[in-house]
Amino acid sequence: MRTLFATLALAGFSMCSTAGAQECSQTIEGNDQIQFNVAEIRVSASCGEVTITLRHTGQLPATAMGHNWVLTATPDFNAVAQAGASAGAPNYVPQGDARVLAASTIIGGGEETSVTFDISSLAAGGDYTYFCSFPGHYVLMNGKFIIE
Ligand code: CO
Repeated sequence: MRTLFATLALAGFSMCSTAGAQECSQTIEGNDQIQFNVAEIRVSASCGEVTITLRHTGQLPATAMGHNWVLTATPDFNAVAQAGASAGAPNYVPQGDARVLAASTIIGGGEETSVTFDISSLAAGGDYTYFCSFPGHYVLMNGKFIIE
């Protein structure tokens, strides 16, 4: 009986840990209509490292409907989106640009990618925007990244 109780208590603890891990590791989807499925992503400042998985639920190839997940401070969003378009294929992200806080690779329909980055240097409550840097997509594919 005592063993059973201990096992249940352990299971409960493990469920709590899993819930915490899920908050630091999140999934977002992009489709063939140039849309992300969520308008904001919230993570806890206690995460330290965050992993964003991007899933392309469409069917079009990366050359026609490429999606990635790029994070910048909101004041840098438009400029980095332009610089990304200028940087060109395959990743549409300016190389060595400190304004890029995180960036995944570009994927096409049916593909998945992820990016892991450290948020300890970012400000809780700061104003951050994520977007797809494939040319033109940032206008429709963007959202708020909130550290709380
Ligand atoms: Co895109």
